[in-house]
Amino acid sequence: MLGLQWGDEGKGKAVDFLSPKYDVIARFQGGPNAGHTLEFNGRKHILHTIPSGIFHAEKINIIGNGVVIDPVVFRKEIESLRAHGTDLKNLYISRKANLILPTHQQLDAASEAAKGVAKIGSTLKGIGPAYMDKTGRNGLRVGDIFSSDFKMRYSQLRDKHLNLLKIYDYEANFEQHENLWFEAIELMKTFTAIDSEYVINQYISENKSILAEGAQGSLLDLDFGSYPYVTSSNTVCAGACTGMGVAPSRIGKVYGIVKAYCTRVGSGPFPTELLEDTGEKIRQIGKEFGSTTGRPRRCGWLDLPVLKYSIMLNGVSSLILTKADVLSGFDTLKICTHYKIDGKITDKIPFDLNANIEPVYKEMKGWANDITKITSFDSLPTELKEYIAFIEKETGIPFYIVSVSPERDKTILK
Ligand code: GDP
Ligand code: IMO
Ligand code: MG
Repeated sequence: MLGLQWGDEGKGKAVDFLSPKYDVIARFQGGPNAGHTLEFNGRKHILHTIPSGIFHAEKINIIGNGVVIDPVVFRKEIESLRAHGTDLKNLYISRKANLILPTHQQLDAASEAAKGVAKIGSTLKGIGPAYMDKTGRNGLRVGDIFSSDFKMRYSQLRDKHLNLLKIYDYEANFEQHENLWFEAIELMKTFTAIDSEYVINQYISENKSILAEGAQGSLLDLDFGSYPYVTSSNTVCAGACTGMGVAPSRIGKVYGIVKAYCTRVGSGPFPTELLEDTGEKIRQIGKEFGSTTGRPRRCGWLDLPVLKYSIMLNGVSSLILTKADVLSGFDTLKICTHYKIDGKITDKIPFDLNANIEPVYKEMKGWANDITKITSFDSLPTELKEYIAFIEKETGIPFYIVSVSPERDKTILK
């Protein structure tokens, strides 16, 4: 299950909704930069590191090797879930998942400050520096926390970071956080650490079904997103293979989640961005404020070149639509079908998404009715069905689910 835009498409809700159909739910990349919201029984939960299947006690939830874990954020999530009475006995963590150190966050902040106006707009959770240490082969992993030289290895890496922070001329401030971090490491030790690649492949061999929960979205992918305004992991389907140790031939259905419009939080190009009243209206109605950072999300019209690109990269087999309810009441809606770049029309994503792109729009008639109480696809307003049919025609991929509200049960199977 993957986000096809710039993240926050509603992955948490969709994974929670589909979890009853699966045996195992696994996160495979990203870390506490993610904020996945679930709403049921009048309560709202935001998960950052823990898979969105966690509220289904009988399901196995796995944090895969491709995830970067901040023990402090993990601990907060665990405490909040325990306070809610959630059963956590089926939560497993890959030994190979990398750890985010307090100094990774400091490095994230220092790097952003040094970039000035060109900053990525990172969530400041230490994601980039943690993945840099992973690819630089310096990282500490979950399996290391049980070894006797862990503290020594931690200190070595921390000291290396402190030297880097000096180059940035950044005043490090992490001592308090370090104590919390080690307390949280003790909590992590009470969970079962596994060789998740063996466990997951064994489950697949037993015909158990695995739901892989993506974080971020395809346009934030390290290779294919609007580089450098991206995150530091592969958010596309291939990331599920490396982030869980599953061969491409064992991937089955690929669900792509599409918000009925686009949002982006942080810096970087956004061709269909609405900088005037309409963008603000969507933000207010859609409550488009970051689940992790609270920052206002930038809003814009649906972008088909982006969608087609993401569908191609991920091999999407079915689409899931979210937040169409937010567009109720608009007389006219726009869908970007092409880009005009230097007078040329294209539906391809250019190398530089910062190029002078003029979106070419198709206008669609809006629907007036509130759709949040509708329970069958046939009862949706004709104009919304036309909006959906147009996306299906242009992308060649059918919708499977239409979500009409944040709550778990406000979800229509097409
Ligand atoms: P994720 O990161 O992809 O899991 O998405 P977020 O949780 O960051 O942001 C999606 C937001 O939209 C959350 O507040 C959800 O509760 C909410 N949401 C999900 N589906 C729908 C929907 O169909 N309609 C509305 N109005 N809100 C939705
Ligand atoms: P979910 O899983 C939306 C964005 C940040 C920033 C860029 C890099 O909830 O959809 P990072 O902290 O990863 O170095 O930030 O990526 N970003 C997200 N935007 N949803 C997310 O996750 C995001 N995770 C990172 O805002 O622009
Ligand atoms: Mg989110």
